[in-house]
Amino acid sequence: MEDGTRFGRGFTLWFTGLSGAGKTTIAEIVEKELRRRIGMVEVLDGDIVRTNLSKGLGFSREDRDTNVLRIGFVANLLTRNGVGVIVSAISPFKEVRDRVRRDIGDDFIEIFVDAPLAVCAERDVKGLYKKAFAGEILQFTGVSDPYEPPSAPELHIKTAEETPQESARRVTAKLEELGYLGRVEEPSRV
Ligand code: ADX
Repeated sequence: MEDGTRFGRGFTLWFTGLSGAGKTTIAEIVEKELRRRIGMVEVLDGDIVRTNLSKGLGFSREDRDTNVLRIGFVANLLTRNGVGVIVSAISPFKEVRDRVRRDIGDDFIEIFVDAPLAVCAERDVKGLYKKAFAGEILQFTGVSDPYEPPSAPELHIKTAEETPQESARRVTAKLEELGYLGRVEEPSRV
């Protein structure tokens, strides 16, 4: 698959990781780049999906699994129709992520957006870790609810060690390597 044979096919980039690890930040950069380079792109972000398609769901294991399966269902439909799909959802449970992987097949690209809990809690972009540590939010992933890391993600990004731009570049490089994106010439270095 190094020869661009998947060019024009749909795919699902599935960003999984703790809240505050950087999923949405990287996804936004990748989205811009993909909009420039391929026709059809769609984003499914857990926070947004939970205001419509998954409205009313909470954070029990059952509700999270339902949320992830709904996102996976839509991602699969889009992928089959040639869309480049970007999912960002904590999706903490391996079993259900693997089920989505089986449904979507080869076009499922799992990206582990990894940052130590202490780093996510320090960033605390939404102020939720503070509340979780104070016991004001229950079942908070990484604090009082489990996160099961992927065992064999297509890409493992450590956001405490590189910039969001560098991470996003590694995602598009992976798509080039897999043949979904044509390679762009490296700008010449002086
Ligand atoms: S998932 O577990 O079902 O995949 P999803 O990505 O859709 O989660 O939603 C996570 C977002 O919901 C977090 O970024 C955070 O803003 C918010 N949230 C509220 N309560 C919780 C909680 N108990 N655990 C994790 N995230 C929570």
